[in-house]
Amino acid sequence: MGSTVAEHTPGVYFVIQNGQKLLATRNLAPGRRVYREDLVNINEVEYRLWNPSRSKLGAAIMKGLKRNPIVPSAKVLYLGVASGTTCSHVSDIIGDLGHVWGVDFAPRPIRDLIDQVAKYRKNLTPILSDARQPQGYSFQVPKVETIFADVAQPDQADIVVKNARLFLKKGGYAMLSIKSRSIDVGKEPAEIYKGQIKILEAGGFRVEEVVELDPYELDHALALASLV
Ligand SMILES: C[S@@+](CC[C@H](N)C(=O)[O-])C[C@H]1O[C@@H](n2cnc3c(N)ncnc32)[C@H](O)[C@@H]1O
Repeated sequence: MGSTVAEHTPGVYFVIQNGQKLLATRNLAPGRRVYREDLVNINEVEYRLWNPSRSKLGAAIMKGLKRNPIVPSAKVLYLGVASGTTCSHVSDIIGDLGHVWGVDFAPRPIRDLIDQVAKYRKNLTPILSDARQPQGYSFQVPKVETIFADVAQPDQADIVVKNARLFLKKGGYAMLSIKSRSIDVGKEPAEIYKGQIKILEAGGFRVEEVVELDPYELDHALALASLV
């Protein structure tokens, strides 16, 4: 039986294959894979399956994230882009009219991001830099509507607040992936999430949703907050 597709939210799809609903985005670089994901052609459009166990944004969508501010035409600052597994789906969603600036301080994944992903996508700019020092890339990044952060550092909420001061439009959103074990292995994840939320609130955000990511990622959550 052939596959069918249904739009979930703008730019995010479910491919229905053998009775299974598989998360997907429309491939902005047809024919190219980023992390050995499957490509599926439906009505002459190519979709890339999005593995929620490899992507916290994908996991949050599967777990019922109510609002995804990453939509077609959006401008996004992505902190902790690595080699672009999730960012490639962000690039698919925002499309040619959007742009994503991807920051990481590790040279190797940034090199892979440049050679294997950004080369084929005009809407993605890789930046080799420390997200704790956003002044270092302030000449390259304009004001954005969304900051997505997945740096897995104990001070990640502070990093988001610092970046928001320079780059986030008023009313814009921060999406913060929280890995509780990288903050404090001894504490309950729920307590860690509360602590991170407090830091966002003190930095001028209103937290709108916190989605736990199990079973895709254990002891992880994704917080969505708006700048008030
Ligand atoms: C969990 S991985 C990111 C995975 C990626 N977001 C994805 O879903 O495809 C965390 C990344 O954050 C980067 N990172 C950690 N601290 C950072 C910092 N201070 N500045 C920039 N990048 C940082 C690491 O080098 C690593 O590539």
